[in-house]
Amino acid sequence: MHILFLRESYKNSSIRYMFKINENYLHLSRSYLFSTISKKVDEFALSNPNADIIRLGIGDVTQPLSPSVIDSMHKSVDEMSRKETFRGYGPEQGYKFLREKIATTDFQKRGVKIDADEIFISDGSKSDTGNICDILGDSNTIAITNPVYPVYLDTTIMRLGNSNNLMLLECNEENGFLPDIPVKSIDVVYLCYPNNPTGTVMNRIKLKQWVDWALYNNSLILFDAAYEAYIKDDEIPKSIFEIENAENCAIEFRSFSKNAGFTGLRCSYTVVPKALKTMSSNGEKQSLNMLWGRRQATKFNGAPYIVQRAAEAVYSIEGQKEVGDFISYYMNNADVIRNGLIKKGWTVYGGENAPYIWLKCPDENDSWSFFDQLLEKCHIVGTPGVGFGSNGEGFFRLTAFNSYEKTVEAVERINTHL
Ligand code: MLT
Repeated sequence: MHILFLRESYKNSSIRYMFKINENYLHLSRSYLFSTISKKVDEFALSNPNADIIRLGIGDVTQPLSPSVIDSMHKSVDEMSRKETFRGYGPEQGYKFLREKIATTDFQKRGVKIDADEIFISDGSKSDTGNICDILGDSNTIAITNPVYPVYLDTTIMRLGNSNNLMLLECNEENGFLPDIPVKSIDVVYLCYPNNPTGTVMNRIKLKQWVDWALYNNSLILFDAAYEAYIKDDEIPKSIFEIENAENCAIEFRSFSKNAGFTGLRCSYTVVPKALKTMSSNGEKQSLNMLWGRRQATKFNGAPYIVQRAAEAVYSIEGQKEVGDFISYYMNNADVIRNGLIKKGWTVYGGENAPYIWLKCPDENDSWSFFDQLLEKCHIVGTPGVGFGSNGEGFFRLTAFNSYEKTVEAVERINTHL
């Protein structure tokens, strides 16, 4: 019977005219960077079953969740088991208890005026930095740095295709891997500081230049601060909202993944200030806070209650101490890698206020041949710099997220075999 409904085109031609796909996806590289690496490592492990591989590739944490977080989750699991305290759907923007804790601890206590209703709880910054495009127009010019965290590039391509509206801000050794203020007009720019992948940071003066530029040009800064907890230097702002008037030109993304070890648990938040407005084509002022709230209410049902309680525990006195210990642990690893490689005479960036060490491949190796050498000779996995963009060619990223013991061993292996 269904044959009756076959389209004419299908019957008469070898070409099947069917439903359409978003062809922008055809402009993406074949596989996501970390999937490619993981496939290569799996193949190596299969043919070298005795190799004890040390993973310093993807920025995934290794230390277990802290006691306060676990304790809070146990309590909320118990709540879910009782009729009186069971929770179904929560507010799409997140529970008030968490939004308020974030607003006071991460912002107000640091002198930054951000309110709870400007905070949107989510399941990860990766999703939010991509999904934010939903509330932005297709005709925007969008700038990303080169090298860059691949999510900004891929999600922009998914949205714009292979378009002239995508611009690259060159970052290299000459400018210390910090992009120059653009001379061309740009509507939206992604900035990530402390930076993934280069581990570099942006000081107050430079960040203020970006804010002033955005205000002057009516541009929007999408500021990814997922690694702010790693900033040790007081001169480096942890939030773009520490810069005067940034609430009129910026959205900030924050995550519990890298400070509290939530990579597997999933919780993050996005700050969309109420002051942030733009003009629609009918000349009316539009609030991005309202638009993002509307987007989340339609497409997202909120992060799980148990997870939000876990995130709340991060703000308890004990929780804050535990987070501090996590950061010190990983930053000690960063020191081990950084100092070890510098002693070897290699050129190294980052690792001082960030969990990423960005090194220049020795002996003029390109990024992928250094990846192969490191894997084959040392059984260590890292991330080829070129995977983050053409300016990453000849560079390589190592993370501080493995255990102390493995990190020390990795540096010893590098010293012995390279
Ligand atoms: C990375 O390795 O760049 C990050 O772990 C990726 C992420 O946070 O999604």
